[in-house]
Amino acid sequence: MIFWRVKPLNQILETAEKKALKRQLGPIQLTLLGIGAVIGTGIFVLTAEAAQKAGPSMMIAFVIAAVVCGLAALAYAELASMLPVSGSAYTYTYGVMGELIAWVVGWALVLEYAIGATAVTVGWSKYMNGLLNNDLFGLVAPGSLALPDWLQTGYFSGGGFNLLAFLIGLAVTWLLVIGTSKSARVNAVLVGIKIVALSAFILLAIPAVTNANLHPFMPGGWGNPIGSNGVGVLGAAASIFFAYVGFDAVSTAAEETKNPNRNIPIGLLGALLVCTVFYLLVGYGAAGSIGAQPLFGADGLPLDPGTPAMTAACVGSDALVCSGEPLAHVMRMLGHPVIGNLIGLAAVIALPSVILMMMFGQTRIFFTMSRDGLLPDAFSAVHPRFFTPHVITYVTGIVVSICGALFPVGKLADTSNAGTLLAFAMVAIGVMILRRQQPERPRPFRTPLVWIVCPLAVIGCCVLFVNLSAIAKGVFVGWAVIGLVLYRLYGYRRSQLAPPSN
Ligand code: ALA
Repeated sequence: MIFWRVKPLNQILETAEKKALKRQLGPIQLTLLGIGAVIGTGIFVLTAEAAQKAGPSMMIAFVIAAVVCGLAALAYAELASMLPVSGSAYTYTYGVMGELIAWVVGWALVLEYAIGATAVTVGWSKYMNGLLNNDLFGLVAPGSLALPDWLQTGYFSGGGFNLLAFLIGLAVTWLLVIGTSKSARVNAVLVGIKIVALSAFILLAIPAVTNANLHPFMPGGWGNPIGSNGVGVLGAAASIFFAYVGFDAVSTAAEETKNPNRNIPIGLLGALLVCTVFYLLVGYGAAGSIGAQPLFGADGLPLDPGTPAMTAACVGSDALVCSGEPLAHVMRMLGHPVIGNLIGLAAVIALPSVILMMMFGQTRIFFTMSRDGLLPDAFSAVHPRFFTPHVITYVTGIVVSICGALFPVGKLADTSNAGTLLAFAMVAIGVMILRRQQPERPRPFRTPLVWIVCPLAVIGCCVLFVNLSAIAKGVFVGWAVIGLVLYRLYGYRRSQLAPPSN
């Protein structure tokens, strides 16, 4: 009964056929597309939070998160190649599991994209503040450009108003309204900048690794596979999952890909593999060179990152877990302040494109949901001159900017992960349902070992979900309840698929 109002797949495909795109992307461009969307706040900022949860064993967390993403990516690729239309997991579930589940997934994707974009604005602000707090490569007296402390950190992290997160959110909103989208050439340059920055970090940090810094290796333990409230290796994996989010950009390019059956998995798994190798080396270099031990509270448990208690415990501390810009911090601690600042500069230049991609994804999901009648028509209004969905872009951008100004990066990333994990699990379930219901339908890409890969993807998503912080799970549930009430009051009656009597 919950699978009502299934939108026929052929009807969904008609939308795509009207705007057929040229098949021009090969495996290298796809891999670059994935890396461009993936490397961001996760590795540049959340490494410190992962260390606070798991210590040096955050390296295991990086591997667990990568495996779950890899399994989900294979499922994603099958649906993306069958249904190369905008709207991502929302559209796939509409065509397989019907309107109610599609609404829940679309609503959860708001968390993935909008809250994910917000997390990256906060990550960006940390590196930008780091540069302003320094001497800008000797151009100014150290700290002379620094913002007052209360403007550097959000209210819920123990500060006031994170001004730079707010401003970068507004700037990206404006770029999206005037029609800036991802360009393959700009993306390749930004990927180059990120790879050079991470490589420089690895080359300088790894020679400084000592065994002593890697012990104790697992100060937070494993965490509990059925729910650890964000501690231990599993808690760190649930958080650092954010560092891999964005690779679905590869699967959504299925329609523009040459030989998708071969190139999509190469692009997806290639991007994941490259990122995992970099992340492991960065994690090893960071933990092994200056240590990565958590700070503990009076109750003997690791303090919760991003909370006022953690901020207070970090006053005057040089620990990795206290740094908002851990990669630059490690370089400065190792006596390479200029490289530290250059890594900061690389983050400042490259992270806005991740914000842009996530906000772009958000506006297109809202746009599709509005076109389906589940959200008001105004959400799909298109700007007369720029031809962009400007109303929804403004709404999204203002919410992203305000949330970025107030909330801590780790909790935002966890909340984004909650929405992403639901969407990934639904996609994996959708693949299995469609294999049974419509085995004959052409599949340009087929998930290998589907009856092993998809169930494992669902289990992996569930294990990571229960290990998110309690706040993220609470926000997720509250958000879902609001969404269901809205659906009953609005979308259920106004849907394009609603019977005329409604
Ligand atoms: N994976 C992206 C990041 O870490 C979202 O910023």
